[in-house]
Amino acid sequence: MTELPKTMFAVVQKFDGYAKTATGPVIEQASDWLEEVEIPVPVPGPDQVLIRLRAASVNPSDIHFIKGEYGQPRIKGAPAGFEGCGDVVATGTGAEALMGQRVAFVASGSGAWAEYALTQAQMCIPLRPEISDDDGAAQIVNPLTAMAMVDIAKSAGESFVVSAATSQLGKLMCGLGRDLGLKPIAMVRRAEAVELLKSHGAAEVLVTTDGDVVEQFAQASATLKPRVFLDAVCDQLSEQIFCAMPNGARWVSYGKLSTEAPRLTQMGQLIFMSKRIEGFWLTQWMMSTPPEDQMRVVAEVQARFADGRWKTDVSTHLPLRNIVSGLADALKKSDGKVIITP
Ligand SMILES: NC(=O)c1ccc[n+]([C@@H]2O[C@H](COP(=O)([O-])OP(=O)(O)OC[C@H]3O[C@@H](n4cnc5c(N)ncnc54)[C@H](OP(=O)(O)O)[C@@H]3O)[C@@H](O)[C@H]2O)c1
Repeated sequence: MTELPKTMFAVVQKFDGYAKTATGPVIEQASDWLEEVEIPVPVPGPDQVLIRLRAASVNPSDIHFIKGEYGQPRIKGAPAGFEGCGDVVATGTGAEALMGQRVAFVASGSGAWAEYALTQAQMCIPLRPEISDDDGAAQIVNPLTAMAMVDIAKSAGESFVVSAATSQLGKLMCGLGRDLGLKPIAMVRRAEAVELLKSHGAAEVLVTTDGDVVEQFAQASATLKPRVFLDAVCDQLSEQIFCAMPNGARWVSYGKLSTEAPRLTQMGQLIFMSKRIEGFWLTQWMMSTPPEDQMRVVAEVQARFADGRWKTDVSTHLPLRNIVSGLADALKKSDGKVIITP
């Protein structure tokens, strides 16, 4: 076995805890939130693994997190980055079975935007050889969320609504919905994305900047009767869409891409039309879903990436050493994920 270095290059958080205000998953410059350091390579404890990075994805949750507006507090000086793919190069007791394997992982001990990441063995998924490192780096957060949320939609009827449908998650959900015989209604904010979303499986695509989008939605809703709204935008238009949905509709908030705070205008719908507003967080799903069910979902996710039904659209490969200088610009492209490379 090659000996591991004592120190590593890492991109770490500049602040602790939570911010007082939330301004959304956008940054003007990464140096406002992150800095480059050389720190000791972490040592795995019991049930932990050390992973040499191959690729890490940049998700909106990473940006919310470094800005202090995510569901868990920042730790100043700790590497950023939740999700990636790499090779297990050291293990603690109880995790030896993963030694040498290429895995997708969510970093729970030391973040993915570093030459080495540390996590629990149970946060790793050994990857099938057909799966590329890019797909491996985006194998957990969005695909598992897509599977879990389309499962919610499937239990509630034949159609469902997806906002921010050009996102990686939106595209995965439209494709999965179509494959299950459902009719996804996709909401996009750019007219040029309509055909793209149709090709990804959307039965209807509505452009949120159209002046009569609510009327267009009401017409589609009268025909398709969607009862689940999977919403990552959560602005005032979302509230209007929810109000235009039929009896029993569920507004599932799972992201906050818009900084606008929506106002509820028709509370009576909750009383007289049995409508509900709720949230979805993958972390909660992982804690509450039995391991055997999670394993089934993981196997289905890998099968979908292995045979090409799903893929990760990549806009930019950004070297680790260019994150601080280049991440803000890389995130301005809207045609796929930024993937970090060592
Ligand atoms: N709750 C959970 O457990 C969970 C898990 C995974 C992801 N998420 C959430 O799911 C959402 C999508 O994640 P992702 O990784 O798939 O995103 P992504 O691929 O990085 O894409 C985000 C896209 O959303 C669109 N967008 C951004 N701001 C918007 C706004 N204000 N209104 C409408 N559209 C907007 C942009 O597309 P255009 O420029 O093409 O419009 C952008 O490219 C995020 O909010 C993320 O936090 C939640």
